[in-house]
Amino acid sequence: MTQADNMKGSKTIAVHWREEEKLYPPTRFIGQAYMTDPAVLERFSEKHFPECYNDYAELLDWFQYWHTTLDDSNPPFFKWFVGGKLNACYNCVDRHLEKQRNKTAFYFVPEPEGEPIEAWTYQMLYRRVNEVAAMLRDFCGLKRGDCVTLHLPMTMELPITMLACARLGVIHSEVFGGFSGKACADRIVDSASRVLITMDAYNRGGKLNDHKQKADIAIKAAAERGAKVDKVLVWRRYPGKYGSATPMVEGRDFFADEVLKDYRRQQVEPEVMDANDTLFIMYSSGTTGKPKGAQHCTGGYMAYVAGTSKYIQDIHPEDVYWCMADIGWITGHSYIVYGPLALGASSVLYEGAPNVPDAERPWRIAEALGVNIFHTSPTAIRGLRRAGSEGPAKYDYHFKHMTTVGEPIEPEVWRWYWEVVGKREAVIVDTWWQTENGGFLCTTVPGIHPMKPGSAGPGAPGIYPVIYDESGKEIPPGSGIAGNICIRNPWPGRMLTIWGDDERFVNVYYSRYIDPKSKGWRGWPYFAADGAVQAADGYYRILGRLDDVINVAGHRLGTKELESACLTVAEVAEAAVVPVPDEVKGVLPEVYVALHPGIEADERIAQKVEAAIIQDIGPIARPRRIWIVPDMPKTRSGKIMRRVLSALSASKDPGDVATLANPEIVETIRSLVQD
Ligand code: WT7
Repeated sequence: MTQADNMKGSKTIAVHWREEEKLYPPTRFIGQAYMTDPAVLERFSEKHFPECYNDYAELLDWFQYWHTTLDDSNPPFFKWFVGGKLNACYNCVDRHLEKQRNKTAFYFVPEPEGEPIEAWTYQMLYRRVNEVAAMLRDFCGLKRGDCVTLHLPMTMELPITMLACARLGVIHSEVFGGFSGKACADRIVDSASRVLITMDAYNRGGKLNDHKQKADIAIKAAAERGAKVDKVLVWRRYPGKYGSATPMVEGRDFFADEVLKDYRRQQVEPEVMDANDTLFIMYSSGTTGKPKGAQHCTGGYMAYVAGTSKYIQDIHPEDVYWCMADIGWITGHSYIVYGPLALGASSVLYEGAPNVPDAERPWRIAEALGVNIFHTSPTAIRGLRRAGSEGPAKYDYHFKHMTTVGEPIEPEVWRWYWEVVGKREAVIVDTWWQTENGGFLCTTVPGIHPMKPGSAGPGAPGIYPVIYDESGKEIPPGSGIAGNICIRNPWPGRMLTIWGDDERFVNVYYSRYIDPKSKGWRGWPYFAADGAVQAADGYYRILGRLDDVINVAGHRLGTKELESACLTVAEVAEAAVVPVPDEVKGVLPEVYVALHPGIEADERIAQKVEAAIIQDIGPIARPRRIWIVPDMPKTRSGKIMRRVLSALSASKDPGDVATLANPEIVETIRSLVQD
């Protein structure tokens, strides 16, 4: 019985997870890590805030140094490195030419395994980015402060176009390539972009997918809402060969690879940007309501992603780094493009799905390129685990470092990642953060802190989290009682505001716990809308979005702990727990599980799942039903759509499911559950 159990009936989220044993980072990792002396953590303590972050800013080249590290005179509109001037593209490309012109910046790996891997050196990147910048400026008429929408898949044209924008001071708003034309339209309208940059087609899932057709849908839908796009640049996946079925629109659509020929050998001076000028907008992946454009700045953002790429990702010049996320998400912006390139790293850009042509593809890529840092999500890890444990050992790769990000990872899955993928040689960081944050908020420092499966760890250097209860009282640190996690202080990677909506920015992230009597940053904790608990050792365990909490008879249960209990059953590969209305208890959890391949669904497995939940959490969490399903409905970023499952459980209409990665599964589950 934990302290939290005794608070049944209160508004506190109950926590039943047992403490996991800690594991120590491999000594070989520590031997080479950038940050190993616990004394450096002192440098990032509150006593040295905000100046501690000058260390991160000094990783960059500045045209002019800042005069004020943090201006907090107008909370929560904090400004970092005020007076500083720099250019993000210059920092990611130009400045590396002198010492490592011929080093690989990106290895581009096409999805079709027969196509050759391309190695793009910093020199090649420099030339191409300059030409594209000239094209954007002279052909599209884009200039400093304009906003342009990118709807690009995972090919070299994406980082190249982003960097070309950054060179000109043009704000890019990249829409994840897997999103529909309609989702793209919403973002064109909100950002008032007049230019759209897209691609004809890309490889994913074993085929060449038509992409340009989405541009036509997007432009039509945006026009209906008064947002006119005058120009569409269409990169061709295979230059000279158009891979889309939709016609090009005369006078509006242009093949970028053709137009580019007029800009060969052109050079464009990088714009001198203020530290607080906007670098890009990234819409948060929220599934309801008007999209929120997180508006990220140049100086603070670049400093934060460079610092965390160096000290948390531990990327050294000789490493080969692979983040398997999509650049269309914030993870890709920060930890495929801006952070690693700021450090002059070599990084892998993989076009396709991890299971094409089979689930061992990632290990072949790692072996071929000598990848030694690997960065992915629990969803991808669960997918690889489901495909079997034999793969990694067959390949001669050795990771020194692995990252998990995007959702809480079940301890069971964490251990599989550690043992099977990492071969017990790699340190793991579980990094908790959000689109709005720019970079990591909670994580261990890999050369210093031991790892604890399922826990993100303490606040990242210079980040001071706090947990509040519903009424605004601080939950005692280390008490193991759950509540709403906030960050007490500002940090350089945080977004400036929501694009075009300062009021919403204040309301969503700050209004909850403001101390009106305070001065400066101290009364303005950032509200993350996640549940969390801090153990006595100072480590935070994230319980998931507060919206996902299930309230059973006044007992608030985090879905993630129920899901973790399900995953202790050997046959279970994935689990999702959703609330269903119940006349007596208000709400009851209902459980969906998908099994490892080759295992037949049978009643005994459902019984084992129920027993595991009762053992780990207690009878209060006894599920109403346990459904064994062939697969989970998932978003294209791989998150399980609990909203769809909970609608099916409640015999409601699941709504629009067209944007899911696997919409067909919804009907399969519906017929199982509702017939
Ligand atoms: C939400 C943010 C951060 C880039 C990718 C997702 C959840 C994220 C973790 C983690 C537990 C995590 C939170 C957060 N989340 N990382 N390591 N452990 N939960 O960005 O789409 O903005 O989602 O993802 O619930 O609030 P996002």
